[in-house]
Amino acid sequence: MTLSPRERLIVALDLPSVEAAEKIVERLGDTVAFYKIGYQLGFAGGLPLARALVQAGKQVFLDMKLHDIANTVACGVESIVNMGVTFLTVHAYPQTMQAAVAARAGSSLKLLAVTVLTSYDDIDLHEAGYALGVDEVVTDRAKRAHDLGLDGIVCSAEECPALHLLVGNDMVLVTPGIRPVGSAHADQKRVVTPANAIAAGADYLVVGRPITAAPDPPAAAAAIIADIAAAAH
Ligand code: C5P
Repeated sequence: MTLSPRERLIVALDLPSVEAAEKIVERLGDTVAFYKIGYQLGFAGGLPLARALVQAGKQVFLDMKLHDIANTVACGVESIVNMGVTFLTVHAYPQTMQAAVAARAGSSLKLLAVTVLTSYDDIDLHEAGYALGVDEVVTDRAKRAHDLGLDGIVCSAEECPALHLLVGNDMVLVTPGIRPVGSAHADQKRVVTPANAIAAGADYLVVGRPITAAPDPPAAAAAIIADIAAAAH
């Protein structure tokens, strides 16, 4: 898989309305090729925008983190296949992953596993009823996701080296929590620069506010793409 630096940047459209998202997409123009739509925009009427972006030649990552009984997951994935998006997240539970893999068969939809949410630590997992800690659950779920045929894992850049050892080069690693040097961290705690994320083995970088809240979003996106290009050589 050879990706151009531009294809490796995914801009998170975490915006309150379709109008706000359309405005940013228009400003970013040809600079950006890949967008992520999650709960906020999706539930504010953003799902038709996902289709429109696909029709306009963009790639779309639908960050819906699906998890339900197998039949419901499968039916949901079948509907999403028809939208033409590139990536979809599912929680890395065996039944959920199996159902999603079966439902997307024959399509170009790629499935990304969410192992353990990065806001969870060992205590949170214990409170949720788990006997194992974060590291063990992440390792176990990443291996299972690989064995069940998922295409990638959403992880922090810090986890990339260990995950590469675990799943080889079979899966793409998609990393949020990216902050260019000098940009505000906001609520992200463990941040990594674009160059360091690429050096750690990330395939795709998810970047939201450092681009969408920048005074000049196209310039901010172009600077990150330049960082990716420099680090990838
Ligand atoms: O604005 P910012 O660059 O922090 O946005 C990062 C995006 O990646 C958000 O859409 C957020 O939900 C998502 N994300 C994250 N951390 C994770 C998984 C997803 O920040 N562990």
